Amino acid sequence: MNNTPGEKAIFFTHYQVFKDIVGEKFIFTDKDTLDICAKDETENLYFLPDIVLKPRTTNEVSAIMKICYANKIQVTPRGAGTGLSGGALPQFGGVVISFERMNSILEIDEKNLQVTTEPGVITEVLQNAVKEKGLFYPPDPSSKGSCFIGGNISENSGGPKAVKYGVVKDYVLNLQIVLPNGEIIWTGANVLKNSTGYNLTQLIVGSEGTLGLVTKIVLKLIPHPKHDLLMLVPFNNLEKAGAAVSAIFRAGFTPSAMELVEVDALKIVSKFLDSNTIPIGDEVAAHLIIEVDGNDVEVLMKDMEAIATLLSDFDCGEIYFADDAQQKNELWKLRRRVAEAVKIDGYSIEEDTVVPRAALPALIKGVKQLSIEHNFKVVCYGHAGDGNLHIRIKKEGSIYSLNNPEVIPALNALFELVKSLGGTISGEHGIGLIQKEYIPIMFNEVTLNIMRGIKKTFDPYNILNSGKIFD
Ligand code: LAC
Ligand code: ZN
Repeated sequence: MNNTPGEKAIFFTHYQVFKDIVGEKFIFTDKDTLDICAKDETENLYFLPDIVLKPRTTNEVSAIMKICYANKIQVTPRGAGTGLSGGALPQFGGVVISFERMNSILEIDEKNLQVTTEPGVITEVLQNAVKEKGLFYPPDPSSKGSCFIGGNISENSGGPKAVKYGVVKDYVLNLQIVLPNGEIIWTGANVLKNSTGYNLTQLIVGSEGTLGLVTKIVLKLIPHPKHDLLMLVPFNNLEKAGAAVSAIFRAGFTPSAMELVEVDALKIVSKFLDSNTIPIGDEVAAHLIIEVDGNDVEVLMKDMEAIATLLSDFDCGEIYFADDAQQKNELWKLRRRVAEAVKIDGYSIEEDTVVPRAALPALIKGVKQLSIEHNFKVVCYGHAGDGNLHIRIKKEGSIYSLNNPEVIPALNALFELVKSLGGTISGEHGIGLIQKEYIPIMFNEVTLNIMRGIKKTFDPYNILNSGKIFD
């Protein structure tokens, strides 16, 4: 798939200006760099930009945007390119602004439990830096070892810890953004409470780089819990695994992770990583990975025992307790690399559905039914504790979903099902390019027009990441 040729002649006349802004070493038109920025982790989508700029400062980003705004040049912001909805793809060519050089952690404020960072910092690097001070930034997408915090802001990412600690939006206090016209603003204040005007901070979180370019981020931190315990629970029945999830919360426990992995996904990722960490019995249909964390290990052990007792009512198999850091890391590695492994195995279409937790068994059942009706193979995995189920689809002859008539009816049916269960079509990956076809399932024209109006206020010429979320 490729974009139509952009307005090359127009913006190449600006080459020298861009070069003066970012410096000769940080302006790219070579094939390799353009090729990297033509892709992310979404399906096999490929849209070549015309030029890639790697600014170092907010002022450079602002200067670039002033040129692009004056000349109506399309701009696509790019983090680490780990996105799963096509948010960083330059659909219409033009300029890609890569944030990889804006990668400094500016200040860890230990007195106020806050961190101020640039957007190009790798999420795990940020987490480790604050952990050294005894502090915790919980949102941990599976790609945390490579994704950028700026991309996490744009997509309102989650990850396994979200079930106890919330998602990115729950930690963002204040953002510096460059508007499409090049003006620089702060959206809020570095405070824990704020009822001062519209909440522009939360509007930018999850706006998928369509309203402004995030150049500085102030995040709330919490004290790092001292201990965590992890267990792996096999089930012979996928729906029962789903039902067990809500029972655990109803019984008064709040695990720090509650992940589900269907057995086919586990087999694929175990093979991919050449791992036999998890023995897989013939009858097993799915596993739950359950973590509890806190400061008192005795309390955590009691909680784990109580959860294990409760799970026996759901016909679980023999529970495996991870004893040490190495075993925990092995389990988490398997879980985090599921998406990558199943994609390579041909499950190339990924959905990010979310339903109220208690509706998870109905969603799982419905998905299996749809896979028969629409003739696709499916594996489910994800953040069961949040009701956020990743659904990976493998359909003969269809490796992508975008504009693909072979796949669209199945996805329409899936999202109608999700809606009927009180859910929504993306929990943490965003709408981007690949889900926008389906956003009218969730919102009527009145609501969509409010969103379009917001877009127009920020970006009247529609130059910033246009064509994402809606047309
Ligand atoms: C995960 C990513 C795909 O949960 O969201 O692994
Ligand atoms: Zn996920």
